[in-house]
Amino acid sequence: MTSQTLREARKYEEASEKMISPEERPAFHLSTRTGWMNDPNGFSWYNGKYHLFYQYNPYESHWGPMHWGHAVSGDLLHWEYLPAALAPDEAYDRDGCFSGNAVTLPDGRQLLMYTGVVRERLESGGCSEVQTQCLAVGDGTDYVKYANNPVLNEKDIPEGSSRFDFRDPKIWQEEDGSYRCIAGNRDAEGSGQILLFSSPDGFGWKYEKVLAANKDRFGKMWECPDFFPLDGKWVLLVSPQDMLPSGFEYHNGNGTLCLIGDYDKETEAFTEEANQAVDYGIDFYAPQTVLTPDGRRVMIGWMQNWDTCNHRRRHDEPWFGQMSLPRELSVKNGRLIQNPVRELEEMRRNRVAYEKVTVSGAVKLDGIKGRRVDMELTIRPEEGCDLYRKFAVRFAQNDAYHTSLSFRPGESVLKVDRKFSGSRRAIIHQRRSRVNHDGGILKLRIVLDRFSAEVFVNDGEQALSAVLYTEQKADGISFIADGTVSLDVVKYDLM
Ligand code: FRU
Repeated sequence: MTSQTLREARKYEEASEKMISPEERPAFHLSTRTGWMNDPNGFSWYNGKYHLFYQYNPYESHWGPMHWGHAVSGDLLHWEYLPAALAPDEAYDRDGCFSGNAVTLPDGRQLLMYTGVVRERLESGGCSEVQTQCLAVGDGTDYVKYANNPVLNEKDIPEGSSRFDFRDPKIWQEEDGSYRCIAGNRDAEGSGQILLFSSPDGFGWKYEKVLAANKDRFGKMWECPDFFPLDGKWVLLVSPQDMLPSGFEYHNGNGTLCLIGDYDKETEAFTEEANQAVDYGIDFYAPQTVLTPDGRRVMIGWMQNWDTCNHRRRHDEPWFGQMSLPRELSVKNGRLIQNPVRELEEMRRNRVAYEKVTVSGAVKLDGIKGRRVDMELTIRPEEGCDLYRKFAVRFAQNDAYHTSLSFRPGESVLKVDRKFSGSRRAIIHQRRSRVNHDGGILKLRIVLDRFSAEVFVNDGEQALSAVLYTEQKADGISFIADGTVSLDVVKYDLM
């Protein structure tokens, strides 16, 4: 039985979606059907389609009572909205259905695991959210919450750990048919930890152990964990809150962290070997992965960050929040490699290519412009010339606006800068990261989709995401060099 709360949300989203024209949205990035979107949830392959749910407040374009929005796709790029899947309509989740994940049960039904939130008055005054893990079972459109919810609560966590920060379950099935899930939590000292639980059937759950402990190394609380094997290693993704900066790798505030290591299934011990940021741009958080039917590990993140949500004057906008491109992951030499899903190549039209263009000063090239673009650049020092000092590509450009990506080989630093993208807010607009290059040779792939830019460096060694709300008629692209660069460009429109 669908609750009144869910029926109202479904009615509301259907009506208000019509007020947003397709041109006002990204073309191939999933955006919220209406209102507000944050984290991807329940990213899964179910009944022949990819399902992507998301943290959703249909009623306003800012965060509020969390529902689960829902969309399906055959290729991860063209999405069709389905009715909202979950609403905060039970005593144990009345203040929000927070993030979680999905798995297919042996009987063919889909099991959603999510965090139920209930606000509690504290004796000290104020309020805190008690968080528990809950289930819902459904057919890909309609979901019924489990009668014995919550299935994990404060009784299931180590002594002293927080019942207020206990959320974002990621569930998976083991080869023997049993289930595991991990969730974010805080230990007695307030630092993040990832807890591991097990279940024979997906419904009855038991605490196993701490899979990974932050011990105040990367921010405080760890949100939205994901954990999977990849190329002979195991990867743990988490989104830490309250980060301190560290070189060019980690920045202040909410960040993303990838821990690569080994996992011993017998002892359920994860040994960390390497750590890195997941995305080096401005707007990326809370990623989740899916295993595709052909065996690829694909990740989608919320292409936004809590610290940059004031980008738009949100109260005037009919929607806020979009997902990143789905990215194929691999591990090479102990690092996470990310590239746009290969399905994107099927959207390429109107190839324009130039080879060995000499760039010194500013250059525009015929046919190179647009806001729905897939563009590959190879830059190298011009033969016989000194190493150039700086190379930049500007896009979403007209006389008033531009966003730029600039590279200084002397410092090995790549900078994304959307200061002149039309934002009227004093939030972070620039970010630098250190990149590999061979004497000034660098490869960049830039994907634009109306309101965003995603950059993939050196065939996926690094990814950088930024949203930009520059008016669409600013569609110029230009290249600038301080010194002399030899440039190869291949550009496609994405249709
Ligand atoms: C991460 C997060 C999650 C939580 C959700 C609430 O962005 O804070 O930890 O489940 O958002 O909307």
